[in-house]
Amino acid sequence: MDREDLKREIKSLLIRRRALLLAHNYQTADVQEIAHHTGDSLGLAQAAAESDAEVIVFAGVHFMAESVSILAPEKTVLLPRKDAGCPMADMITPEGVADLRKRYPGGTVVAYVNTSAAVKAASDICCTSGNAVNVARSLPLEADPLIMIPDQNLAQFVAGRVDRKIVWHDGFCYVHHRYSAGDVLEARNRHPDAVFVTHPECRPEVQVLADRIASTSGMFTFARETRSRKIIVGTETGVLYGLRKENPDKIFIPLSEDMICEDMKLTRLEDIRDALLNLEPAVKVPEETRVKAKKPLDRMLAVPRD
Ligand code: 13P
Ligand code: SF4
Repeated sequence: MDREDLKREIKSLLIRRRALLLAHNYQTADVQEIAHHTGDSLGLAQAAAESDAEVIVFAGVHFMAESVSILAPEKTVLLPRKDAGCPMADMITPEGVADLRKRYPGGTVVAYVNTSAAVKAASDICCTSGNAVNVARSLPLEADPLIMIPDQNLAQFVAGRVDRKIVWHDGFCYVHHRYSAGDVLEARNRHPDAVFVTHPECRPEVQVLADRIASTSGMFTFARETRSRKIIVGTETGVLYGLRKENPDKIFIPLSEDMICEDMKLTRLEDIRDALLNLEPAVKVPEETRVKAKKPLDRMLAVPRD
């Protein structure tokens, strides 16, 4: 079927199913183009929770759909590709959280939303790349040490901005963690007139070379605000679609063309159409886990963005 016909079919199915299509900023251009909302993990979780749609189609990865199921259990949550996961989220288990609690008694577990529902259920509060600093600041001093899981780089980003005792798990995102200061310097040498924005999932040595460190949606704010016309972008290349669309007068250069999250790229238009036709694959968090996981998510949602 022709791509435009397929997009039309999806749009009419979305109306028929009273469904909302959410797409993460890393999705393919095709998918982002037809979504009701695009955004970062925080923005999409909020959009889903606030929506009165009966069906949420989440073009993203598993933990994102799980967060919607936790926050809005009455909705049918569809993840068009059930194999779309997040390798970083798989690096920590509830048993791993229990081990960290034993190692740091009295500490507070701050779980990045890139975790399973079971790990959230074993945690005290969640955070995203868009609110991690404010989440740390929202906790009383007696909450220390803050045990940040699973991303070592996000934890070090926060540790550099708050005067708190922070310890971390050794997880990482393979898409961001493989880049070094040398890669940034090379890109800056090639584009001496460009500014550099990066994600907190990059290593500290990359972060210190950035003009702004931000969530994927925070990058849109930076792109609007900066007076520079050229911006080197240190995150998954899917974000370039939206940045270029919103800022046609600016030039966006990926830190590397290879910054690709295989899982984020699994979802195709055909998968979305099939999910809407069959109302599956659906993601439903078991009630006992859901109730426990909702507490840290609700605590997080009460904190403003950084
Ligand atoms: P954002 O919340 O910044 O969109 O990041 C999600 C993610 O998975 C980054 O790799
Ligand atoms: Fe997970 Fe990294 Fe992919 Fe984000 S980019 S979904 S953290 S593997």
